[in-house]
Amino acid sequence: MENVKKVLYSAVQPTNNLTIGNYIGAISNWKQLQDDYDCFFAIANMHAITVRQNPAELRQRTLSLLALYIACGIDPEKCVLYLQSHVSAHAELCWVLNTFTYVGEMERMTQFKDKSARHTENINMGLMDYPVLMAADILLYQADCVPVGLDQRQHIEIARDIAQRFNNIYSPTFKVPEALYMKTGAKINDLQNPEKKMSKSAENPNGSVFLSDDRDAVIRKFKRAVTDSDNLIKYDPETKPGVSNLLSIYSVFSKKSISETESEFEGKGYGDLKLAVGELVADKLAPIQSEQARLLSDKTYLDEVLKRGAYLANKAAGRTVGKVYKKIGFYQL
Ligand code: TRP
Repeated sequence: MENVKKVLYSAVQPTNNLTIGNYIGAISNWKQLQDDYDCFFAIANMHAITVRQNPAELRQRTLSLLALYIACGIDPEKCVLYLQSHVSAHAELCWVLNTFTYVGEMERMTQFKDKSARHTENINMGLMDYPVLMAADILLYQADCVPVGLDQRQHIEIARDIAQRFNNIYSPTFKVPEALYMKTGAKINDLQNPEKKMSKSAENPNGSVFLSDDRDAVIRKFKRAVTDSDNLIKYDPETKPGVSNLLSIYSVFSKKSISETESEFEGKGYGDLKLAVGELVADKLAPIQSEQARLLSDKTYLDEVLKRGAYLANKAAGRTVGKVYKKIGFYQL
């Protein structure tokens, strides 16, 4: 029977701890998408090594991220959850696509410029090639859409350009993917520096709430959040970035609108708001954390998930690489 569902693809790097921003912006939305699409969710460990990693930590974070996907409600029976390095087609297609990508384009990518500035001691070819590997990820699975944060916009654009370039030179080979920017993905900012996005690698760790933070740490970080001095709880990101950030975090975690949230805190002080957000976030994280811990103690199960994922991903990706090799003139036996 012909499959009518569209294909959806996304991935996360198993690098630093994920923040509640990564959760709200990415993984928490994937759960709702899994019934409507044929989903592939990867753990991008080949991307991760573009910045030097500790091998034991990389291995550990790989399993933690897999357990987190499942703990967040992504069903490994419905979706293909797999590890990028288990599918050699990623490296193979990346190589081919490199010959359809210009050095100048890669040098102009903002993430490459940022990361080169931050890792001056290790500006390696992989860092520059990062977007081509990402294009290979997406194009291998003939993905229709790619749910990502706005920070990935340039990467999706390049993937589309490369796909179109190849399709024009040969014949339609790749689906040209669309980015899917989540509407609910209210931007979550740094608690210490509320005009900046909350990031996995902020200078001040009190500004980021990690999915792995325990209840006390979550509450402490919210208590210390930077606000302003007019003690008025009102949503106005321009003039009140700190308070607005707390209100939007409360609103996404409680699934209430911003105006409902504003009225809930009418007449209350910043201390009340900070405590309420901290407790709410801690309450929401607790069941995810305990499920993640439970899964992490069952390595046999996690390995089975990865085996199934690798099998299915290899099957899908192998088809695309086969087509590509044929079109470009690689002699086939
Ligand atoms: N670059 C993405 C990020 O850092 C992770 C990623 C790798 C990805 N390959 C992908 C996202 C393919 C979407 C599709 O968030």
